[in-house]
Amino acid sequence: MTPKELVQLAVEAMGRAYAPYSGFYVGAALLTEEGRVYTGCNIENAAFSPTCCAERTAFFSAIAQGERKFAAIAVVGGKGGTITETAPPCGVCRQVMAEFCPPDFPIHMGGPDGRIETVRLRDLLPYSFSPDHVK
Ligand code: THU
Repeated sequence: MTPKELVQLAVEAMGRAYAPYSGFYVGAALLTEEGRVYTGCNIENAAFSPTCCAERTAFFSAIAQGERKFAAIAVVGGKGGTITETAPPCGVCRQVMAEFCPPDFPIHMGGPDGRIETVRLRDLLPYSFSPDHVK
């Protein structure tokens, strides 16, 4: 699965976003080490704080199915579902990634015109609190 293919799956997932309050649609596609893909979209709530980001929806969906080893994630987002710039994962989602993924875990962010920017988890969340601190 190429980054481009994974981003395309994230774009499709973005179409399923439930974001009536912000109008900001996000989609994510999470690739397991064995090649399976779990997608997620943001799911908002009238009470606001129960809102779940697309990345966490994808992670929690995969983890609930027994997955534990992940190879990459693609993320896209934009107001009304129009991608005008890359949408970096929020801090909470970065922390969830740090729980399950190694420091070199790649995050592919889809931008306009099919552009893809890839960053590593260690660069998005340096000096992180990790499972090793607790175990
Ligand atoms: N959102 C995500 O889905 N992922 C992120 O990493 C950042 C924010 C969602 C949450 C909310 O529904 C909307 O984008 C606006 O913040």
